[in-house]
Amino acid sequence: MSTSRIVCPTIRRAFVKDVAVGGLLALAALAQTSRSVWDGVYTRDQAKRGEALYSTECAACHGLTLNGGEMAPALTGGEFLSNWNGLTVGDLFDRIRRSMPADRPGSLNREKNADILAHILSMNQFPAGPQELDHQTEALKQIRIEAAKLDERK
Ligand code: HEC
Repeated sequence: MSTSRIVCPTIRRAFVKDVAVGGLLALAALAQTSRSVWDGVYTRDQAKRGEALYSTECAACHGLTLNGGEMAPALTGGEFLSNWNGLTVGDLFDRIRRSMPADRPGSLNREKNADILAHILSMNQFPAGPQELDHQTEALKQIRIEAAKLDERK
C-alpha cells in the first residue's frame, strides 16, 4: 500500500494549493523588485511609433542611428549605457521629459516620450516584450537599467 493513499485527499489538495499560491505571490514580489531592461519592457509597435517621433524630434542633434552629432552625445553604446547603468528607466524618462528636445524642452507629452524611450531601448539591443512602457515615472522607476545582462538571475 503506498503512503499517499492514507493521507486524506482534501488535506493534500489544500496543502498543494497553499504551496502553489505562496509560490506565485513570491514570484510576483520578485518580478516587481527585479525587473530590468532585459525583461521585455516595451513592445515592437511602441518602438516603431517612437522611431518616427525620434526622427522628427531628436535625430537632427543625436543622429538618425542615435550615434550622436557634433553637439549632442550618442544615445546608444558603451558611454551612454555606462552613464545610465544602475539607474532606472524612470530616471532616463524624466531626464528626457524635462530637458529634451534641447531647443524645446518639455514640448513632448508623456506618451510620446515613452514611445521615443522604447525606440532608444530597442536601438540599445534590449528585447521587446508583450507590454508597452508605462507613461508614469513611478512605474518606470521599477525598471533598472543594466548595461550587461546578469546571467545568474533566472
Ligand atoms: C537641439 C539639439 C537636440 C535635440 C533636438 C535633442 N537633444 Fe538630447 N541632447 C542635446 C545635447 C546638446 C545634449 C548634451 C547636453 C545636455 O545634456 O543637455 C543632449 C543630451 C541628451 C541625453 C543625455 C545623454 C546621456 O548620455 O546622458 C538624452 C537621453 C537625450 N539628449 C535625449 C534626447 C531625446 C530623446 C530627444 C528627442 C525627444 C533629444 N534628446 C533631442 C541636444 C539635443
